[in-house]
Amino acid sequence: MQMMAVVNQKGGVGKTTTTVNLAHALVLAGKKVTVIDIDPQGHLAVSLGVNDTPLPGMDEVLLSDADINDYWMEVRDGLHLVPAGPRLGDVELLAQGGAARGFKLREALNGYFDDQDFVLLDCPPASGLLVVNALVASDEILVPVSGDYLGLRGLVYLVNTCKRLEGLLKRGIARSIVLTRYHQRRRLAREVRAKLKNYFPGEVFATPIREVSALAECTSHGKTIFEYRRRSNGALDYHALARDLMDGRMM
Ligand SMILES: Nc1ncnc2c1ncn2[C@@H]1O[C@H](COP(=O)(O)OP(=O)(O)OP(=O)(O)O)[C@@H](O)[C@H]1O
Ligand SMILES: [Mg+2]
Repeated sequence: MQMMAVVNQKGGVGKTTTTVNLAHALVLAGKKVTVIDIDPQGHLAVSLGVNDTPLPGMDEVLLSDADINDYWMEVRDGLHLVPAGPRLGDVELLAQGGAARGFKLREALNGYFDDQDFVLLDCPPASGLLVVNALVASDEILVPVSGDYLGLRGLVYLVNTCKRLEGLLKRGIARSIVLTRYHQRRRLAREVRAKLKNYFPGEVFATPIREVSALAECTSHGKTIFEYRRRSNGALDYHALARDLMDGRMM
């Protein structure tokens, strides 16, 4: 089982879109996948068409030590979700527990999901306690970077956060980067791609995810791109990204 945190403290770079569509692409390739919402915004459930008024989930697990299995639901064949829950934001307010506060998620996941191939943690656009919990619990991070300069700056910040955490945990956190919202025709986007390749050799997935309107539309319909427009460039790109991940194909 591979536990991956989908992180970038910058908002709107495609974390949730990537979590949903990469997960479904992996499922369509025969893998068992669980997605877990670590973001109090709760967009993951909505994106997957689970629209019941905010279902409890990770909030109960992290705040009340509930059993994560009780909130693990099958949303598609082979695809499971643990929703965020309405109280998840309160985790950031936990004042007590010192450094142990950062290990709550890791402990809650321990021993579960061993039969899954991939577990993806959709993180909030922040760098607080929830994200620290996700980083501590993960084997590696998947960082969506949108094809603009600011996206690149955010990445440098994230790399430093991880370095500090690696020192604390006394282990490495592997990293892979996916270029999202990519405009092939824009010079800036091509420059960002070239810079990423230079700064992070062997860590950038070969496939960039293009900016396509179907990817923005499908979430509002509660469908993955494979259900909404399975012949679109968005579906092609996430299929290819899943292959990159399974085959270790980097730029
Ligand atoms: N490749 C793409 N092409 C077109 N639109 C996209 C693409 N990726 C994401 N979007 C759209 O951009 C917006 C932000 O994407 P998303 O919610 O996945 O980002 P996020 O990083 O999870 O945001 P947040 O930080 O708020 O959690 C959404 O409206 C989404 O539909
Ligand atoms: Mg999101």
